[in-house]
Amino acid sequence: MRQFPAIGGMRSVEEFRARVEELRLEIPCDDRVEAAPASPLAKPLHVAGRVIGNRFCIHPMEGWDGAPDGKPSDATIRRWRNFGLSGAKLIWGGEAVAVRHDGRANPNQLLINEDNKRSLGALREELIAHHKQACDSTDDLIVGLQLTHSGRFSRPNEKLRPEPRLLYHHPLLDRRVNANGNSPLLTDDDIRRIIDDFITAARLANDLGFDFIDVKHCHGYLGHEFLSAHTRVGHYGGSFENRTRFLREVTEGVRSVAPTMMIGVRLSAFDLVAFHSETTNGKTGPGIAEHTDLPYHWGFGVDMDNPQRYDLSEPRPQRHTGHAQVRVVQCVESLYAELRSKTLPNREILGQVEIEALQSGTTHDSNTGIPENLIGKEAGLTRRAARRS
Ligand SMILES: Cc1cc2nc3c(=O)[nH]c(=O)nc-3n(C[C@H](O)[C@H](O)[C@H](O)COP(=O)(O)O)c2cc1C
Repeated sequence: MRQFPAIGGMRSVEEFRARVEELRLEIPCDDRVEAAPASPLAKPLHVAGRVIGNRFCIHPMEGWDGAPDGKPSDATIRRWRNFGLSGAKLIWGGEAVAVRHDGRANPNQLLINEDNKRSLGALREELIAHHKQACDSTDDLIVGLQLTHSGRFSRPNEKLRPEPRLLYHHPLLDRRVNANGNSPLLTDDDIRRIIDDFITAARLANDLGFDFIDVKHCHGYLGHEFLSAHTRVGHYGGSFENRTRFLREVTEGVRSVAPTMMIGVRLSAFDLVAFHSETTNGKTGPGIAEHTDLPYHWGFGVDMDNPQRYDLSEPRPQRHTGHAQVRVVQCVESLYAELRSKTLPNREILGQVEIEALQSGTTHDSNTGIPENLIGKEAGLTRRAARRS
């Protein structure tokens, strides 16, 4: 049974405002939707020295409709064409593209390598050509490519056969991918090879003219799993420093092969304990938290003593991670509001922020860690809650 009102069920702005107030959130809201050019969503946004022509963003959306060798199919090409025709000026990654075969989430996920380079470049060109047709200018269009390894959720060869690549044993999630305590873990050397694959993939994306790559760190896939690898021993687990080493090493490697390309990170800012589904009278309910021993050592940004609550002390910005500083630069509005007011409501907050690894030197607001040039502007790139893709 649903325990919260669906946004789609709200019939007026007043209803929406009342709900926002009830949740003690700050979400500014206009009385009516303005059309361009007056609409705030039609206004350009300046990011990292580039102009994004409006505030519409296409989230990454894979169709798992590539060929077995990871090249795009006609259906993939049609999707990217429509991304271009939509008029949105920020294409956040297009879709998750695996950096190696064994990290594909599905046998039809796109794969980036030398053999597939030309066809992935054609995807970008298709998008740009159709954007030009619909919108004239492409100077203010930013197109990224999302790079991924599916880690625990890899299914590279058969849609229904998990072939997990694990960083650590998870007491609840292992059994969901047919793993157990004897299943092998990725070694530190395996991880270094995966880092090399990310760097190679970034170089290829740069050659193809993509404006940025997104080093995917969300939805339970490999990058995200590093952040919760508290129980892993070695260089990539345990301390915060170690759990973020993968991101730093990928970022530094990418900077060395493509110094001017922007880097984005789609981050799941916190985990909660796993839930399983429930159905009452034929209706799907909000789910039931799985029982687990405490403290709960298997999440990022989770309260270990009560894993149904988040704890943002690690995901919170202002944390220096070696040569690169990982900063929150775009937030969903509720989280943005929380960071600014430094209050943390104990109810629903949207669990996704986009962060960008920046080189030292950018000035940031001392309270929030958000770059000063964004303070006071709407954090408008993405505003939607994350689900597992
Ligand atoms: C069909 C589908 C494919 C998706 N593929 C990806 C993906 O490749 N990478 C990713 O980070 N998120 C992916 N997502 C998540 C979306 O980008 C988005 O964050 C999510 O759907 C929440 O937005 P919504 O409420 O508008 O659906 C996917 C979602 C859907 C429905």
